[in-house]
Amino acid sequence: GGFPPFRNEPMADFTRADHRAAFPKALAQVRGQLGKTYPLFINGRDIMTGNLLPTVNPNRLSEVLGQICQAGTKEVDDAITAAVAAFPAWRDTDTRKRAGYLLKAAEAARGRIFELSAWQILEIGKQWDQAYADVTEAIDFLEYYAREMVRLGEPRRLGHAPGELNHYLYEPKGVAAVIAPWNFPLAISTGMAAAAIVTGNCVVYKPSGLTPLMGRCLAELFREAGLPPGVFNYTPGPSATMGDYLVDHPAVSLIAFTGSMETGLRIIERAATVHPGQQNVKKVICEMGGKNAIIIDDDADLDEAVPQVLLSAFGFQGQKCSACSRVIVLDAIHDRFAERLVAMARATTAGPPEDPAHFMGAVADEKAAARIRGYIELGKTEGQLLYEGPVPEGEGYYVPMAIIDGILPEHRIAREEIFGPVLAVMRARDFDEAIRWANAPRFALTGGVFSRSPAHLEQARREFRVGNLYLNRGITGALVERQPFGGSRMSGVGTKAGGADYLLHFMDPRVVTENT
Ligand code: NAD
Ligand code: ALA
Repeated sequence: GGFPPFRNEPMADFTRADHRAAFPKALAQVRGQLGKTYPLFINGRDIMTGNLLPTVNPNRLSEVLGQICQAGTKEVDDAITAAVAAFPAWRDTDTRKRAGYLLKAAEAARGRIFELSAWQILEIGKQWDQAYADVTEAIDFLEYYAREMVRLGEPRRLGHAPGELNHYLYEPKGVAAVIAPWNFPLAISTGMAAAAIVTGNCVVYKPSGLTPLMGRCLAELFREAGLPPGVFNYTPGPSATMGDYLVDHPAVSLIAFTGSMETGLRIIERAATVHPGQQNVKKVICEMGGKNAIIIDDDADLDEAVPQVLLSAFGFQGQKCSACSRVIVLDAIHDRFAERLVAMARATTAGPPEDPAHFMGAVADEKAAARIRGYIELGKTEGQLLYEGPVPEGEGYYVPMAIIDGILPEHRIAREEIFGPVLAVMRARDFDEAIRWANAPRFALTGGVFSRSPAHLEQARREFRVGNLYLNRGITGALVERQPFGGSRMSGVGTKAGGADYLLHFMDPRVVTENT
């Protein structure tokens, strides 16, 4: 108690003139700050290093947003030393006080919401609404985990045996490495870091090399909140030289990771090795990729299904772990659905997202663009191209939107995460086959069904085994508290960000029994 009840931060409202005007204004404002050098943040202080890397706009490669100081192994050591030193006092800080820092960071983010959105539009190419939603999700994580920690912070009394007093309580693990992806550059970083911090751990945070400036923004929010030195440290750097080093470090007890399956499995494997001086078994919280399907039943409402599939597949260029990359359409409705999907795709435009008329923009970097183009060519040989969108003029990392029909479960574009605007269309004989195909990949993150049949919706609840299943709606945009997010199988270890079990993974439970 004490804090008002949790509520999700409202979305951007484009019926409001002030919201519409705020985006161009914020874009101009951040463009007035381009080219600065951004230091690390260690032990409460800004630290410059000699090794700088630019962060650029993927839609305008000549636009350098800033120069980012890179951490090497020495800076990782310094950050871990600061975190180790800060830990005992932070662990012993009253949980309500720790929660209060998160609320202050949320307040700071609210005050800068359009500016934080504008940086994302420029640094990673999010559309206006998507950038804003990433900031509101960050705020939600801060507000929600603050309340969760107050709930969990009270020791619970167990049992009724006379003459015996049992208390169940939680304590933090120590130093947490937080390793984040670029696709939700503020929300996911904030969620993992806030959970570690509010539970009493001290954090060494490594943002993705593609979104270090958003990472720096997070460091500023925690600084504004007044966190004690060493509790949150920001160390961007090349994963090749400092990623393994951070994971392997004997003083790291907890690793919160969100990213690709390859990196996640590597971290799990490395974290199992005990190094000299190590005192704890490392715990790995690991959220990985997806190969998500939407099933279109033969009685589906296509007025709903078509736009929702389009948005789930191609919003933010399909670069969401939750994105729809397969649409499994029942035979009887396949041709009508495909025709309407292509017609709607044709009506979209592509180009830099600073112009809100553009539905799709550039992908994250040259490596991603090359990988996606490779999958489109592969798809053309595995199935038949239904639609390939135009590629905008200009210097961005542009790839076309692609819809490929005639895909079967054994095809690679039905099994491998592409992480781009490529949608495989699969024609299923009946609903049983559709469910079987939906469950076929190793991943189990999100999924959806459009159907008017109560029996089929019921069957999907039982048999469509993904972490987040959506019936008669799109499959992206999970909200904190209402749709705790995360998958199982090769999509992750089942920790559910934004849900009531999440913080438990950041702590060890203890029991104290007194003979009274
Ligand atoms: P990535 O695995 O390439 O990188 C993630 C982070 O790990 C980055 O900060 C990167 O620098 C770091 N890293 C890379 N190698 C490392 C190493 N050896 N040691 C330590 N750190 C290392 O992923 P990405 O391209 O940033 O993100 C996209 C992926 O993330 C997709 O697969 C997507 O599905 C997944 N994702 C999953 C979720 C989820 O909640 N399940 C959410 C968002 C993104
Ligand atoms: N939480 C994000 C979504 O649901 C990944 O789209």
